[in-house]
Amino acid sequence: LFALTGCGGSQADSKEIKVGANFEMTGGIATFGQSSVNGIKLAFKEINATGGVIGKQLTLVVADNKSEPSEATSAMTKLVAQDKVVAVLGAVASSNTLAGSQVAHDNKVPFITPTSTNPKVTVDDSGKVKEYAFRACFIDPFQGTVMANFAFKSLGAKTAAVYIDNSSDYAKGLAQFFEEAFVQNGGKIVAKEAYLQKDQDFKATLTKMKASNPDVIFVPGYYEEAGKIVKQARELGYTKPLLGGDGWDSPKLVEIAGPEALNNGFFSNHYSPEDKDPRVVKFVESYKKEYNQVPDALAALGYDAALMLADAIKRANSTESGKIKDALAQIQNLQVVSGNITLNDYHDPVKSAIVIEMKEGKQTFKEKVNP
Ligand code: PHE
Repeated sequence: LFALTGCGGSQADSKEIKVGANFEMTGGIATFGQSSVNGIKLAFKEINATGGVIGKQLTLVVADNKSEPSEATSAMTKLVAQDKVVAVLGAVASSNTLAGSQVAHDNKVPFITPTSTNPKVTVDDSGKVKEYAFRACFIDPFQGTVMANFAFKSLGAKTAAVYIDNSSDYAKGLAQFFEEAFVQNGGKIVAKEAYLQKDQDFKATLTKMKASNPDVIFVPGYYEEAGKIVKQARELGYTKPLLGGDGWDSPKLVEIAGPEALNNGFFSNHYSPEDKDPRVVKFVESYKKEYNQVPDALAALGYDAALMLADAIKRANSTESGKIKDALAQIQNLQVVSGNITLNDYHDPVKSAIVIEMKEGKQTFKEKVNP
């Protein structure tokens, strides 16, 4: 018996539903990819234990994109062409998700990125929604505004410097949205500098930035470089607040920067494991039992993206990619760990953000900001 798959995967006659995972399992942001896959696997395990989806078991095929856009394109191609998955979860970094999105579109296979926050991930250059692109997280115009308001209102900052990772679509976008919102508040951007991923020494630039005496420095990059920047900024005697976005959320941040340097450090995030919401408490408990670790936001959103997919397959009552795509677009009030998901016309959920304060190397809940 041969199943006719037409466009995208289908697997109509199979007892399993093959789902792809395009993640940063190695390379510069490997903790992100690993946490995401852990979260997804936990969700699949729980769903499969209670009978699966439409009577079938969910299986995950993981492809490592090595934290590189070109590898993310290859990983996506392998998943859709070779493994014939019905849908893909991933990637983490906006640049990697953007790189894979054309392949998904060309092959008519939907994907859900748990955590890519750049607006362009779900919207093309002409402003039209990308039919096959979905996400489980808020987007950077919101996240940038949250951090700009926090700097201006909660920290009383009147001036800010911005230090941008120029190799990341995420960092470039987030920097721009932060600047716009900070200026709108009445603040002033007094310095703006850039670096590239894999850079090691940030001291010359930080010295220059420090000379402009900013009340805060915003570093919207990923933990590897952000950790080094925090460390070196403190070594140069900068004691005022250092701010970041969700890209700071890794245990490696503390290893690299050191707990002390991170004091007076704040970043926006999608969820806090300290949240007393019963869904969060239950998730943190099962995750700890499974992995002996406290789940970070990547794990929580990986879990949530898996729930979104399962919900869509159930409502589509089909494993055809086209039908799954239509059901995904209609997700409404789906209760997941990081909140309630209703997708808007651009396939973006509208959700709250959390500001985390670093204290002696521990993430502590500072405030929750609703959209
Ligand atoms: N938002 C980041 C991006 O779009 C990815 C990220 C999300 C990293 C959450 C850490 C935590 O590139």
